Amino acid sequence: MATNNTDDTTDRIEALIDRLTLEEKIDLVHGDDDPDELATGYLPGIERLDVPSLSMVDGPLGVRPGTATAFPASIALAAAWDDDLAHEQGEALGRETLGADQDALLAPGFNIVRVPQGGRTFEYYSEDPYLASRLAVGTVEGVQDAGAIATAKHFVANNQEQDRHEVSAEVSERALREVYLPAFEAAVTEGDVGSVMAAYNRINGTYATEHEWLLSDVLKDEWGFDGYVVSDWWATSDGVAAANAGLDIDMPGIPVSQWHAEESLLHDVIERLPDTLPKQSIAKLASTPWLPENVNPNLFDRSPFEVELPEAVRRGQVAESDLDEKIRRVLGQMERFGLFDDEQPSGAFGAGEHRDVATRVAERGAVLLRNEGNVLPLSPETDSIAVIGPNADSAKVGGGGSSRVTPDSTVSPLEGIRERVGGDTRVAFARGTEPIDDTEGVAGVNFDLSEFAPGGSSSGDGAPGVGDAVVAARQADVAVVFVQDDAAEGTDRSLWLPGEQDRLVAAVADVADRTVVVCNTAGAIRMPWADDVDAVVEMWYPGQEDGHATAAVLFGDSDPSGRLPVTFGRRLDDYPASTEDRYPGVGLEAEYDEGVFVGYRHFDAEGIEPQFAFGHGLSYTDFAYSDVAVDHDGEPDATVEVTVENVGERPGRDVVQVYLGPADAPLERPPKALAAFETVALDAGEAVTVTLDLDSRAFAYYDVEAGEWTAADGEYTVLVGRSSRDIVAERTVIVEESTIVE
Ligand code: GLC
Repeated sequence: MATNNTDDTTDRIEALIDRLTLEEKIDLVHGDDDPDELATGYLPGIERLDVPSLSMVDGPLGVRPGTATAFPASIALAAAWDDDLAHEQGEALGRETLGADQDALLAPGFNIVRVPQGGRTFEYYSEDPYLASRLAVGTVEGVQDAGAIATAKHFVANNQEQDRHEVSAEVSERALREVYLPAFEAAVTEGDVGSVMAAYNRINGTYATEHEWLLSDVLKDEWGFDGYVVSDWWATSDGVAAANAGLDIDMPGIPVSQWHAEESLLHDVIERLPDTLPKQSIAKLASTPWLPENVNPNLFDRSPFEVELPEAVRRGQVAESDLDEKIRRVLGQMERFGLFDDEQPSGAFGAGEHRDVATRVAERGAVLLRNEGNVLPLSPETDSIAVIGPNADSAKVGGGGSSRVTPDSTVSPLEGIRERVGGDTRVAFARGTEPIDDTEGVAGVNFDLSEFAPGGSSSGDGAPGVGDAVVAARQADVAVVFVQDDAAEGTDRSLWLPGEQDRLVAAVADVADRTVVVCNTAGAIRMPWADDVDAVVEMWYPGQEDGHATAAVLFGDSDPSGRLPVTFGRRLDDYPASTEDRYPGVGLEAEYDEGVFVGYRHFDAEGIEPQFAFGHGLSYTDFAYSDVAVDHDGEPDATVEVTVENVGERPGRDVVQVYLGPADAPLERPPKALAAFETVALDAGEAVTVTLDLDSRAFAYYDVEAGEWTAADGEYTVLVGRSSRDIVAERTVIVEESTIVE
């Protein structure tokens, strides 16, 4: 049953609904072709009644059509641990959405990084629900403050790419409530997000697009969501079930042949085949290059809403009042964001407007994982630098799939370093191994296939070899080796670096005086060479300003203040979902029986030493914490005060992290969970006292039987640290009586 949380819509919308024909109503709940061919998803509107069109566009790293600012990957933003910065980047994204003449941005995406191999880890924030929540709210508010509609995606438990269209996340309600739902709940209840995208996957056997408990009971009823739920592209299979469960818009609403008619006659041929034939199997047999292993089963069908709803409404299978409620939600957001009265801000478009935001986010997301002997920062006077790496002469703009952005300019690490030291007299370049291809990602069908240009990256000056790199490293004062992976939507990744990069790093480390490794990866990777090199910097996918940000960090113009938003384990089976039934699942069912023990919560509970801990990150200066005080009153909340002093010789940023260790409870709880954090920038010698609030939810677990959040009475431990494993102070808080919290 649909839910009415939209009783405050205006008379205008109610009057419109009264005048719409059934056909016009159906046209407002499924996508169609964008005549300008710019939108990723498009509702044409109803000209007869002056209902404007609604254009939706990808994505989390920048606006997809044309050229736009290619911002750093979402995980780089997350590594900055700064919701104000998230707001700033969100606002820039929102302005570029409007500047591209679009109304809604299909972002942010913030599914929990449950498995480190997840192909979209670069597009998401963290393994921790609290950190993900703060960044989701910051980004949503930023996008919407700029005047565009934000889309919280992918609702919910889209935590792997393998079999993403069919896999069922077999997950307990407690784990949903405590781990997978909180960031969506925050985006709705705090960020007032205008739309939520229903994921491809199933949750406990039911497709997200047809999941009434999630879409209506939790999202709309419990949280009071008054925006619209849009399906992921071709995610809807049963239109009637989806309509009755609470899906409001079926996207893209058109079959792939119409979506990419100009791309492939094959689609037309396949589409014309009798429906009794297995179309996607035929497409696969036709070895259509862009059809991924786990092809979306609905690609070739017309919109289930378009096909099924007219008759379903006439027969009463779907109440017309429910259809009206969908339209109320869509038109309500269009009115909220000024589409009816052409009141949308003009926005801004183009890298020039937001290049500095992209640079700053990339700098702030830099995580200094290791810095033996303080080999970093490099001094501009450094005599000679060997820049090594298969792709060091190209910016790592982003990953493959729907989040791809085409910037109007890029700065490679090599260019950034040469520019920073002034000319290239002292900077040698050696590729070392074959270039790493940039995967197009899944499914060209979901994306503009014109990007699918044949032919990978050139191998440039002949076949590069490790030997060239060794020679360059031997002759330089310092060798900076750039390694990268190539994550993409629709396919999960290996934690091993592709190609011969591990061998390259080892060979360079063998001969170089000083070896710095810069990682451009989607998330955690295996680093067999970590103890053999002097410094390691994780720069993730830095976006178009890669070289500028990386050089600023390497030369100390920007203090590497990033902290890991995901755990880097030593081995694959250190991670919780390391058995086949948990990931990728057996028989299209992934068992989430690790429960709430995701990421560092698992490493802590099992006493596993990570390679680099959640929250870890070094600085070029040093910080001292003192005067840790906790104020509480027996209720499940507390205020923590910490004085932080920069006791080093140079300015820097630190991220004060507060974790909470639970009191005994009638169920197993993680040893600690992130409950608050604050990023501080301090000059050398400067000190500041920060105040961090622990709200009642931080104390609570979800009692499924009672259907309530409960803070047990007893002794809680407040842990103040510079990472989840670098705890500098502990204090005790007593909750005097067990309390139900919101
Ligand atoms: C894709 C993605 C989603 C994107 C949509 C439109 O398959 O899952 O994140 O916004 O389709 O491209």
